[in-house]
Amino acid sequence: MKFFIDTANLDEIKEAYDLGVLDGVTTNPSLMAKEGISGDEKVRAHYKAICDIVDDNVSAEVISTDFEGMIKEGKELAKIDNKIVVKVPMIGDGVKAIKYFHNEGIRTNCTLVFSAGQAILAAKAGASFVSPFIGRLDDISYDGLELIEQIVHIYDNYGFATQVLAASVRHSMHLIKCAELGADVVTCPLKVITGLLKHPLTDSGLAQFLADHAKAAGK
Ligand code: E4P
Repeated sequence: MKFFIDTANLDEIKEAYDLGVLDGVTTNPSLMAKEGISGDEKVRAHYKAICDIVDDNVSAEVISTDFEGMIKEGKELAKIDNKIVVKVPMIGDGVKAIKYFHNEGIRTNCTLVFSAGQAILAAKAGASFVSPFIGRLDDISYDGLELIEQIVHIYDNYGFATQVLAASVRHSMHLIKCAELGADVVTCPLKVITGLLKHPLTDSGLAQFLADHAKAAGK
């Protein structure tokens, strides 16, 4: 299972990368805005800075919603670095754009996916990743994890190459359940990844080991 971090914050990306378990980054226009990044040049420079930290898989989202606009923007984004994955929304022109990018050998992440039908379309168009948003489904009383299970099952049935990227992951249990269900990737905030470290028995066990060691050494 790959771990992506869902942020445009360079310090958080570095921290996750330094932990040695990071496989990529997802951003979206809201996350870029949160970091105060705007204007073509600054946006491009920021994506480049992210690419310089990680080994691969940096999702950069198009803002256009029409086919021509998405193609133009996606090509520009892909030129920044070969680690870039062009993130395209699940709308009609987005599906066409994914097909186009697939034929051009440009990797895509189909975002804002909330149903199995949308995931089938993304896979048929040749998306490299599909991003079902599980937390946002939970927020409106639908079971986000059930959607992951459904998509993994459908993709397995047909051997689709599209990777299931569980997005809008809010807590560590989401991540663990996604692993049980066979999601290829999860993208989540740093705290979800570091949350996996935590166990009270680890803390108390370590404190005891260190205390016993100090006692034996006469400290
Ligand atoms: C995915 O690529 C999105 O950036 C993200 O996971 C959305 O998460 P949110 O629902 O917490 O905003």
